[in-house]
Amino acid sequence: ASAPRLQITSAKTLAESSNLTSIPSHYAFTTPTSGDQAVHADHDDSIPVIDFSLLSSSNPDQRSKAISDLAKACQDWGVFMLINHGVPESQMKGTVDALMGFFDLTEEDKNKFLGKHVLDPIIYGTSFKASVDKVLLWRDFLKMMVHPKFHCPPKPEGLSEALAEYTGELRKLARELLKGISESLGLGPGYIDEAMNMDSSLQILAANLYPPCPQPELAMGLPSHSDYGLLTILMQNDIGGLQVNHGGKWVKVDPIPNAFVVNTADQLEIMSNGKYKSVLHRAVLNNKTTRISIPFSVGPSPNTVVVPAEQLVDGKHNQATYISMNYKDYLEFKQSRVLNKGLCPSQVK
Ligand code: SIN
Ligand code: FE2
Repeated sequence: ASAPRLQITSAKTLAESSNLTSIPSHYAFTTPTSGDQAVHADHDDSIPVIDFSLLSSSNPDQRSKAISDLAKACQDWGVFMLINHGVPESQMKGTVDALMGFFDLTEEDKNKFLGKHVLDPIIYGTSFKASVDKVLLWRDFLKMMVHPKFHCPPKPEGLSEALAEYTGELRKLARELLKGISESLGLGPGYIDEAMNMDSSLQILAANLYPPCPQPELAMGLPSHSDYGLLTILMQNDIGGLQVNHGGKWVKVDPIPNAFVVNTADQLEIMSNGKYKSVLHRAVLNNKTTRISIPFSVGPSPNTVVVPAEQLVDGKHNQATYISMNYKDYLEFKQSRVLNKGLCPSQVK
């Protein structure tokens, strides 16, 4: 295969170049991106925590409490911390280490996966959308389609095994969560699984590497956007940087050790007829430590056309209008037109 010949410097290489005290001007946004404008959630209204073990509890009271907490989290925030999820700590750590190892490969090895198209099964990139947006992002990333077919770069050694195991574990977790979410919408527990054809669910694992940035208030890791799938289950090292939009304010998401951050995404907004909005989020930078975030996007099957559940369209006036196209086309459409503008599906007309 012929790798594209682009002059490209990864954010990692740039950050590691000696005596870097300011960022090149093409990484600077004209308005400050500063994380410091963001607020910490206050005590009465902080990012919800969902205990997964209660969702699968055999005690019906515990389970129904967990389902109603889930409904509230999805409706009021579109994001929650997931604890007691059962994914072994060693698997989580192994995945983080293996993906860190990918970014440590030579530029030549990584550049073999420089991708152009959103549906390429493996894409490595840096400073996404440079040509479109003029300003580059302080981020390197790797994206792989891991289901229905599993794709992974051959190097570094052990990456493929670690990811196959980890994504298999997350697939089970996602399916259970979607059962709970389905119930929380007043639908049967199997509704989403069936309507989205989850046996052939399209699942994308990504890794975002944000090296320390000498001027974090001028550059950006990832600008405001919503995710394209149903749900995203995100793992991160213990360095903060993720912010979610809540009631028009940017709220910092402080990592909880070993917890996942789960957020609602576009296809869930569509299938829930707008009841669970796809949450806007972004990633800001710091000048001290490398942050890695590893989102696992769970979507419908590539050929599924997602429409609002009939039970959630009560009466003629309650039908939100969403574009209807199959998921694969939606990915291309969103990538080409709206990704960096942070639009949610109801705004895509
Ligand atoms: C993402 O939205 O894909 C990643 C956000 C983060 O880095 O936490
Ligand atoms: Fe995202």
